[in-house]
Amino acid sequence: MSKRFLFIISILIVLSLTLGACAQPKPQTLKVAILAPLSGAVPTFGVSTRDGALLAIKEWNAKGGVLGKQIEAIVEDSQCEADPAVNAANKVINQDGVKFIIGEVCSKASIPVSEIAEEKGVVQISPTSTNPNVTLKADGSTKQYVFRACFIDPFQGLVGASFAINELGAKTAFIILDQGNDYVRGLAENFEQAFTQKGGQIVGKETYTSQDTDFSAILAKVAEAKPDVVYLPDYYNIVNLVTAQAKEKGITAPFLGGDGWDSAELDRAAAEGGYYTNHYSDQDTRAIVQQWVKNYQAEYGSVPDALATLAYDAANLLLAAIQNAGTDDPAKVKDAMANIKWEAVSGTITFDQYHNPIKSAVILQVKDGQIQYVTTVAP
Ligand code: PHE
Repeated sequence: MSKRFLFIISILIVLSLTLGACAQPKPQTLKVAILAPLSGAVPTFGVSTRDGALLAIKEWNAKGGVLGKQIEAIVEDSQCEADPAVNAANKVINQDGVKFIIGEVCSKASIPVSEIAEEKGVVQISPTSTNPNVTLKADGSTKQYVFRACFIDPFQGLVGASFAINELGAKTAFIILDQGNDYVRGLAENFEQAFTQKGGQIVGKETYTSQDTDFSAILAKVAEAKPDVVYLPDYYNIVNLVTAQAKEKGITAPFLGGDGWDSAELDRAAAEGGYYTNHYSDQDTRAIVQQWVKNYQAEYGSVPDALATLAYDAANLLLAAIQNAGTDDPAKVKDAMANIKWEAVSGTITFDQYHNPIKSAVILQVKDGQIQYVTTVAP
């Protein structure tokens, strides 16, 4: 083969590649990862979170995207557990080149992800992880790249304790908790502290592990202690087991919990009479909430829970911060985020120095098989 022939062939190859590329230009997208527990113990958390975030992204894309680019969502199943969440975070950062993460839901998964985000300079916003350590380093300083769209558990625990004492007239409480779950352990501590500070007495505290399914030994102690309320700040899967077994044992003291109760799969018959603190109520009459409920219903055919709502808020916050920064450089976006003021469905969001929004909580009651709005508590 002559040199000249080879030369012509190579020119042709280069030309065809260039033309091919021109004929089908690959549109530039801005990638956003959504880390959500789609499988594992609490799949309704994942589905709601994914759906809420995707709806926000769809709305932005319909309006032209952000920085002139369409937004591409990369959804990963992080299972509400540390290891799968870390693997998912590494995958989206190292393989997909993602610079923005929405997630995780569960504090015990968001905390290890936040360490990676901070180290790699990737902006992370958790919609719903309420443990303070999500945004705080061990030395108490703030992780510069990590934010959340929800209030934190010292506030949530205080709201629960005040409600028990002031509204339910409780003088004594029994706490049941999973020591191995950062969220549960933290919230139980925050409740205990607030309850005793307000003059209440903790008459029993028992722990279990996430593998446990038989709570009869613990519930026997509850029955004996006869507390005015039982604090059970776990996720709906555990709440379903414990409240059903408590009903069988004839325990009538009301159960009280936190946002982890929020699920379409909460066993309302078993949890009947219980109360929990949450981020939002679909019965909120503010126009922004009712519009959101309508839009979500039109898209998915169901009423959005707090997880869907906060994921929608978190995605909007992130995209607005990118827009405000005028660049997708995460170092700039994190600064824009720290200074943002955003009218979210779950309330107006501005961040304090720890990257926590200052927001109200709602109290909901499981009553007549429905979830009823009781009251809103401002910080
Ligand atoms: N706050 C919980 C956590 O930090 C997660 C959660 C939020 C669950 C809202 C349900 C509803 O682990």
